[in-house]
Amino acid sequence: MALRLDRLLASQGPWSRKEAKGLIKAGRVRVGDRVARRPEERVDPLATPVFVDGEPLAYRRHRHVLVHKPPGVLSATRDPRAPTVLDLVPEELRRRDLGLAGRLDKDAEGLVLLTTDGELAHRLTHPRWKVEKVYEVLLDAPVGEAEARAFAEGLAGFAPAELLPLPGARARVILREGKHHQVKRMFRAVGRRVLRLLRVRLGPLELGDLPRGAARALSDDEEAALYRAVGL
Ligand code: URA
Repeated sequence: MALRLDRLLASQGPWSRKEAKGLIKAGRVRVGDRVARRPEERVDPLATPVFVDGEPLAYRRHRHVLVHKPPGVLSATRDPRAPTVLDLVPEELRRRDLGLAGRLDKDAEGLVLLTTDGELAHRLTHPRWKVEKVYEVLLDAPVGEAEARAFAEGLAGFAPAELLPLPGARARVILREGKHHQVKRMFRAVGRRVLRLLRVRLGPLELGDLPRGAARALSDDEEAALYRAVGL
């Protein structure tokens, strides 16, 4: 699978095609044990290692990054006014084609997935694939069995969801669709206001102890489980 060297670099790293050409012209790219000079050279990255500034380019068709979004950060990849989840992704994990697999409100926090695989993102967010989204919420007043029943029956036009009341005014919610402001709207329908919303799971992916504001690549096992969850 031979690719043009400048294209290969632009598809794997943070560089544009123009920047990739610049790296090659500056002698900063090695193919095997020789310095590459021609951006149009065709290279098979699975057969021959490529290095940029001496660092091996790990060839991956796709990149998936899990981010712990803090409140105040936008679920977007660029915005002129506010920080975005892409700003939290370290340089070595960045790719220009990273996009969002689902969004959280600006004031919400927790697990957000960025991926270069558009079909994967589509399936993770489309209700047809029924991928579970799990949220922990803090409410303005406790909930109990009556509210759990209302969620289970499906309210305010939303599909049935699981509501597990927790001590205090806290609860855990499991959705299999992801409509705009859905958790807040479902609680509003039973007379509660969401004060804090944290997404802790997306399908097989757990937020775990990833610190707020941090980002990491998925492990191979997580990636395989994610693809299995949406039949890919
Ligand atoms: N439901 C909401 O109301 N907001 C989110 O960010 C996610 C789910």
